[in-house]
Amino acid sequence: MHVPFNLAADLDAALKRAATVASIADASAFSPEVRTAEARHGDFQANGVLGHAKARKLNPRALAEQIVGAIDPALGENYVVSIAGPGFINFALKPAALLAWLRTFDSAALLRAGAAAARAEQTWVVDYSSPNTAKQMHVGHLRSAVIGEAICRLLAFTGARVIRDNHLGDWGTQFGKLIFAYKRWVDPQALATDAIEELERLYKRGNDATPDGSPELEEARRELVKLQNGDPESVALWQKFSDVSLAAFQEIYDRLGIAFDHCLGESFYRDQVDRVYRELAETKLAEVSDGALVVFHPEHPRFKTQPFLVRKADGASNYASTDLATALYRTDHFKADGIVVVTDFRQADHFEQLFLTVGKWFTATARRQPELHHVTFGAVTGEDGKALKTRSGDVIKLKALLDEAVERAFALVTEKNPDLTESERRDIARIVGVGAVQYADLSQNRSSNYVFSWDKMLALDGNTAPYLLYAVARIHSIFRRAGAVPGDPSIESGATPPETPEEITLARRLTKFPDAIRLASETLRPHHLGLYLFELAGDYSSFNSADKVLVDDPAIRARRMMLCARTLLILETGLTLLGLRTLTRM
Ligand code: ARG
Repeated sequence: MHVPFNLAADLDAALKRAATVASIADASAFSPEVRTAEARHGDFQANGVLGHAKARKLNPRALAEQIVGAIDPALGENYVVSIAGPGFINFALKPAALLAWLRTFDSAALLRAGAAAARAEQTWVVDYSSPNTAKQMHVGHLRSAVIGEAICRLLAFTGARVIRDNHLGDWGTQFGKLIFAYKRWVDPQALATDAIEELERLYKRGNDATPDGSPELEEARRELVKLQNGDPESVALWQKFSDVSLAAFQEIYDRLGIAFDHCLGESFYRDQVDRVYRELAETKLAEVSDGALVVFHPEHPRFKTQPFLVRKADGASNYASTDLATALYRTDHFKADGIVVVTDFRQADHFEQLFLTVGKWFTATARRQPELHHVTFGAVTGEDGKALKTRSGDVIKLKALLDEAVERAFALVTEKNPDLTESERRDIARIVGVGAVQYADLSQNRSSNYVFSWDKMLALDGNTAPYLLYAVARIHSIFRRAGAVPGDPSIESGATPPETPEEITLARRLTKFPDAIRLASETLRPHHLGLYLFELAGDYSSFNSADKVLVDDPAIRARRMMLCARTLLILETGLTLLGLRTLTRM
């Protein structure tokens, strides 16, 4: 029996063919919209008939009957097909088809191959984390890094060549002040022990020492001009600031499992902005207003009067100029089919204006148009709803936050599993602690504000990393007890189709993995995958309490071992896609 990987996508195609065979009105415009159904409606549901009928003043129920009548009869081997309500088409997988799916997709490589068709041959550039240099990363920098990495992995899993680009904020007026302060007050001792801490101190001091209108500010400006003109001493200092910053950031990235392909910050584009000004002027998209170069968008309710400022009146470039040059570089040099930028929602206007401008500019210059996505997220707040701060009111450094997570996880592991050696517990705590922080962020819709709660993220029940990692560890322990390797075909041979209600529920859930991947990667919202994994772990837990796995009957044992192995495979694959590391014991 042949079964495709993505059952929903396959049904979608089958219904489109049926619509053509039945020659319904406007068959080529028919979009079946097959999605994972709520369990009581079977496995998958097509609700596209309703919209298609409504737009053409047809009877939806009759239209559904016409389409179902023309479905390829071979589909009936795998599904019970029915029409419900005003014209929904429901599909319930037969047990033999469930078994066939579970038998077929039995390795990470096959899951990957199945999912990879969606974005095959595409190149996507993902711009995430992208902190400003000469400052430490604090808790506000967590979301972009964590969400961005999950998106990279989802895009890669769905077939894209992914270019991870850390667009550092490493250019701008602040460097004049920093050089000014560095030359006067650097503490070599402090620089040697914690360089980024020292730079941050100098940066603040430089800021305080250069109030508006002061001679110090003039001096800082001269430092900036020297840097911009390529004065070797200034450039060497600036380079040092970047190197030191990146080294500090890298420690955090290592802990989060992030490896960038490029760190092309704002400075990389400083010589590319002139071309942007020229092209925007030549294509008449930009105009000079009060000395500045600006782009209006007359069709937009706000941006028709509130322009996109692409060059300041004093001739200096700004965030918009470098971002325009960046879009050009990613399109021309990387040949990007898609560009994703991950920042908090406060930059929404900037990116809306940027993307509108890029669209018109690339049209006017006959360039290819990559898909542009600004992936936004809400703020990180404490449980009181206010910005998360330390007791003394400072911002929380990301390094300290991750350390605390690991410490708390260590206490949890020690309580749960006191018999493990200390070094084992430390290793587990690193994965559980960092995973808890990552997953707390990824488990909720990124558009919402994210309430940071140690107790919630470290809870062993609920939609948390410890719960999911524990489910993984528990399945490994079953295989250890059975003396078997998960996925070894010999322990699954002779498996019969799922029979008990819990086996069936679990098997059905497993077949929905491709649709969860599709949803999360199409919407660039990893929480859809998180929710799916949580539901899968719940179904597994019900199965595990209802049905003993290591029974004597070889057929039952084989199919239950298969269900365990497939749950494990999909949980591990899914958690890895979210950027988490998994464990074999916990
Ligand atoms: N450095 C910016 C910040 O800290 C984020 C940069 C995002 N990427 C971009 N191409 N603008 O807010």
